[in-house]
Amino acid sequence: MNSERYSALIVPPIGPWPRFDPPLRLGVMASGTGSNFEALHDATACGDLSAQLCLLVVNKADCGARQRAAHLGIRCELRDHRHFTSREALDQDLVHTFQDEGVEAIVMAGWMRIVTPVLIDAFPGRLINIHPSLLPSFRGMDAIGQCLTSGAAIAGCTVHEVQKDVDTGPILAQAAVPVLPGDDKEKLTRRIQAQEHRLLPWATALAGQRWRKAASTQG
Ligand code: GRF
Repeated sequence: MNSERYSALIVPPIGPWPRFDPPLRLGVMASGTGSNFEALHDATACGDLSAQLCLLVVNKADCGARQRAAHLGIRCELRDHRHFTSREALDQDLVHTFQDEGVEAIVMAGWMRIVTPVLIDAFPGRLINIHPSLLPSFRGMDAIGQCLTSGAAIAGCTVHEVQKDVDTGPILAQAAVPVLPGDDKEKLTRRIQAQEHRLLPWATALAGQRWRKAASTQG
């Protein structure tokens, strides 16, 4: 099998993109290279994801996500976790920051910190996360390493609502890819990330339908 000749399985399948009027107002949190953040941006720029990325918050001054935000012209604020006395104190700051910005939901696009009920409860059902495994398998750190060690034949990624326990919460969408002979962490990461960049905007749009429906029934 040619190593990249496969079809990724995405469930629910990517179909017509829902339109939001006005567009979703999203906050994003990231700690890493920011490729998922950029995928969200690209999906809004091409009109697939009907959303505005209002603010990116990063916790590392030198992370790639911050550089990408500068390049893409998206406002970015730094919240260095080491400057807060507790996880809750950081999360309280995030709540104020995103509420002041008027965001309706937050996407954790590679936020490498455990979040607390302070943040989760301020955005009930409106805080979503992407994780590089087919949850509920391989929760927590080094999910791709865990997958390789396990001998699993199928890997993937999941977008889910955030709950108190790490990498749990209702699943919005998943993408599956094969683990191929000769895979190492780098190769498998690349294959998974290619699907993350498709899945995250799509799952955000699916979640957006729920958010707007809930908002309309609340009057
Ligand atoms: C992704 O693999 C995501 O699943 C995990 O963190 C990584 C972030 O990558 N939560 P990037 O910073 O978006 O490139």
